[in-house]
Amino acid sequence: MCGIVGYVGERDALPILLEGLKRLEYRGYDSSGVALPVRGRLKVHKKAGKIREMERTLPQGLSGTSGIAHTRWATHGAPTDLNAHPHVSNDGRIAVVHNGIIENYAALKTMLQQDGCVFASETDTEVFAHLIAKFYRDDLESAVRNAIHYIKGTYGIAVVASDRPDEVVCARNGSPIVLGIGEKEMFVASDVTAIIAHTQQVIYLADGDVAVLHADSYRTTNADAERVDKDVQEVDWRIEEIEKGDFPHFMLKEIHEQRESIERCFRGRVIPEFGTTRLGGLNLDRREFFDIQRLKMLACGTSFHAALVASYLFENLARVPCQVEVASEFRYKNPIIDKNTLYFAISQSGETADTLAALREIQRKGGRVLGVVNVVGSTIARESDGGIYIRSGPEIAVASTKAFTSQIVALFLFAVNIGRMRDMSPALGRHLVEELAAIPGKVGLILERAGEVERLARKYLDSRYVLFLGRGVSYPVALEGALKLKEISYIHAEGLPAAEMKHGPIALINEETPVVFVAPRDELFEKTLSNMEEVRARKGRILAITNEHPTDRRVEALAEDVIYVPDTHEALSPLLTVIPLQLFSYHAAVRLGRDVDQPRNLAKSVTVE
Ligand code: AGP
Ligand code: GLU
Repeated sequence: MCGIVGYVGERDALPILLEGLKRLEYRGYDSSGVALPVRGRLKVHKKAGKIREMERTLPQGLSGTSGIAHTRWATHGAPTDLNAHPHVSNDGRIAVVHNGIIENYAALKTMLQQDGCVFASETDTEVFAHLIAKFYRDDLESAVRNAIHYIKGTYGIAVVASDRPDEVVCARNGSPIVLGIGEKEMFVASDVTAIIAHTQQVIYLADGDVAVLHADSYRTTNADAERVDKDVQEVDWRIEEIEKGDFPHFMLKEIHEQRESIERCFRGRVIPEFGTTRLGGLNLDRREFFDIQRLKMLACGTSFHAALVASYLFENLARVPCQVEVASEFRYKNPIIDKNTLYFAISQSGETADTLAALREIQRKGGRVLGVVNVVGSTIARESDGGIYIRSGPEIAVASTKAFTSQIVALFLFAVNIGRMRDMSPALGRHLVEELAAIPGKVGLILERAGEVERLARKYLDSRYVLFLGRGVSYPVALEGALKLKEISYIHAEGLPAAEMKHGPIALINEETPVVFVAPRDELFEKTLSNMEEVRARKGRILAITNEHPTDRRVEALAEDVIYVPDTHEALSPLLTVIPLQLFSYHAAVRLGRDVDQPRNLAKSVTVE
């Protein structure tokens, strides 16, 4: 997804802007650009393609102590040099970078053209440059505020003026904007990763806020133009966490981090002696817990798969009915909100537009929404009525891995908590908590055998199509395995409930079709074995993820290849069975020469519809 970086201070702005853009590359983009006020004029340079291409063609003389920069993920107008940001007013006095969508841009463009404005691009964003210029005399902040009154849609913007080299103005409505506070310098970005190298003191703007930045000061005002003193927050992770270190890709690093990230998610949140958990931040008192009659979860993509796993946990462990819906479908169905239902918005980034819109729709109708989020201070984290941070640390690779397992852990903790307030026995609670404590070590055992998965990925990567099958809590894992393979290797894949295969997809099975079975030795294992028989009878090639057994060799007799994972309670098996699938898709993508951390067409956080 698009990125914004801005700087005003005493240092040369250009290196800081370029470094910030590079830190945002992982979010996905198609073009980039910079604008700096230099000796009374705006110097602008922008290019379609990679940041290094824009950097390579930088003209001389782009030196100044303030500026703005952007990575674009096109919504209006192709990824071209002209459509790249920053966009500049006709008089050359205003430059703006923008994340989001201006829904009424066509009407505004017509109005501005009738005013004599000449548009250089096809983008919606360019209306911002002309609108601000229309109001700009000698107060940039009020010009920006006047302009945003005309805008319908979402924006995070940063603005500079040719005659104000000591000032950057930014504003937010629906697209995240964070301010960074330095020593005699200020930063603005769409994501804290762009500026964490310079400061850990940050301020998250809320919708409607406008901020004016100078080297030694900043001012924030709210939607009513009233001055507001925002909380300064301390970022709780370091720059090293967004470096690849010894790994070739962020995705592989984050797969291997799961031993630590899973432990970090439950650290301090379990009470072994009582076989239960403690979760701060839910803003629910005991009585309200009792009143919960059902749960509903909204999410997208991998987070949707984590929510599906959680629905099995809530129904089987806590005996609470739990539904899961794709957020983008839920938000448009005029949903019926029930006062005895507790809603969850599950999102790694905390900025996914569809999930955020679902949260707002529920709240508009009086519902209560808990967020299960990774990024601290993100919009969903701030707008939900409470929630659980999953503490994965920054997830840079577009393909979500460690966030998936930590989302499951966070929801598992909640399920045990609710379960122990209902019928779950202390003994079962203690067993579950003990099993959870053993998971990081078991993840480590799987990772030690990653080379075996790499060999299998090489073996199957020429497949045209791969089917992933699982039953019960392994069905969402099959969905996740298919999504991972699709999104980073570009091999088509499909996840299905194992029993569903015979209702049509079995027609696809032949000697060329690899079928991945997620088959831990749980209560549905025997049924899954039958499905393996069905595939084998049609010469399908089986790759099975299962647990070792001292005598039972039926899986080995049916499968061409077997990947073993350690035993655990069936509710926790997804935390282990997903690891080989993450590694499988990673190694297939690497062997195919894909851009593993930034797959084509994808963005890390989909903040547009
Ligand atoms: C997962 O690998 C994908 N990158 C994508 O499906 C992602 O899970 C989805 O866009 C939801 O993102 P969120 O968790 O940040 O809301
Ligand atoms: N809608 C704007 C454009 O298409 C901004 C897209 C983005 O968020 O990067 O240029």
